Amino acid sequence: MRTIRNRSTSAGSARSTTQPNTAGSARPDAVPIAPLATIRSVAGERTGKQHVEEHRKIALRKRLLIHAQAGAVYVPFIGDGDIAVELYTKRRIFGADLDPERCATAASRLPLNATVVAADCNAWPFKRGAAGVDFAVADFDAYNNPWPSFESFWNGAGVTDRLVCFFTDGSVNQVSRSGNYMGRHWEKADRRRIFNFYALQHAKPRIAKTVSPWRVTMFQFYRRRGMYYFGAVIEAP
Ligand SMILES: C[S@@+](CC[C@H](N)C(=O)[O-])C[C@H]1O[C@@H](n2cnc3c(N)ncnc32)[C@H](O)[C@@H]1O
Repeated sequence: MRTIRNRSTSAGSARSTTQPNTAGSARPDAVPIAPLATIRSVAGERTGKQHVEEHRKIALRKRLLIHAQAGAVYVPFIGDGDIAVELYTKRRIFGADLDPERCATAASRLPLNATVVAADCNAWPFKRGAAGVDFAVADFDAYNNPWPSFESFWNGAGVTDRLVCFFTDGSVNQVSRSGNYMGRHWEKADRRRIFNFYALQHAKPRIAKTVSPWRVTMFQFYRRRGMYYFGAVIEAP
C-alpha cells in the first residue's frame, strides 16, 4: 500500500466546488475553494462530443480492470460520466471535471456515495477530501493531455499495491503540427517515428519514470487518428 495523506501538489491551484449528487446534498468531503461562477469562466464554452468510439475505450478498460484490486476509482475528466456509469459504479468514485454542468450530470447518474467536483484536474483536486482513501483505478480520459493529471494524482493520492490506469492522449500531435516535442525541434522523418512509436517508446516509459520504483507490469494501447488510448497496470516493488 502506498498511502499519501493530505499532500498537495506543487501546482496547488486546484479550484473545486462541491457538486450535489442529488439536489441540494453538498459533499462534506470535497474541498470547496472557488464559487461555481469562477469555475464556469475557466471551463469556457462546453464542447460537444465526449467520445470517439466509446466501445473501444470500454473494451480496453475491461481487459485490464480484471487485474484491479478492491479500492476507489479516480475519474478526472469525468464529463457526463459515461465511462464511470458503465464500469465503476461498484467502486467508490471520486470524479472531477472543469465543466460544472457535466459534473452535475455525472453525479446524477452515479451512486449516492460518489464525489464529483468541478475542478481543474491538472492538479490533484481532492486533497483533504480523499484522505484515507486508497485508489485501485484511475482513468485519465482527457481530450488531449492526461499527463499533468496523472502526475498530480500519483503525487497526491494514496493507492493500493496494484494500480490500474487508463489514458486518452493526443499530446504527441504537437510533434506532427509544429515539429516541437520534448523541448526540441525534430526533422520530418523523426516526427513520424515519434508519432508512430509513441505508445511504447514515450508513453509507457513516461509512466514508468513517474512511478519508479514501482513497475509497469502490463501495458496495452490502440491508436485512432491522432489519439492514443492506453492502459497500464502498475505494481509496488
Ligand atoms: C473526453 S471528455 C471525458 C468523457 C468522460 N470520461 C465520460 O466518460 O463521459 C473530456 C472532459 O475533460 C474535461 N476537461 C478538459 N480539461 C480539463 C481539466 N484541465 N480539468 C478537468 N476537466 C477537464 C472536459 O470538460 C470534458 O468533459
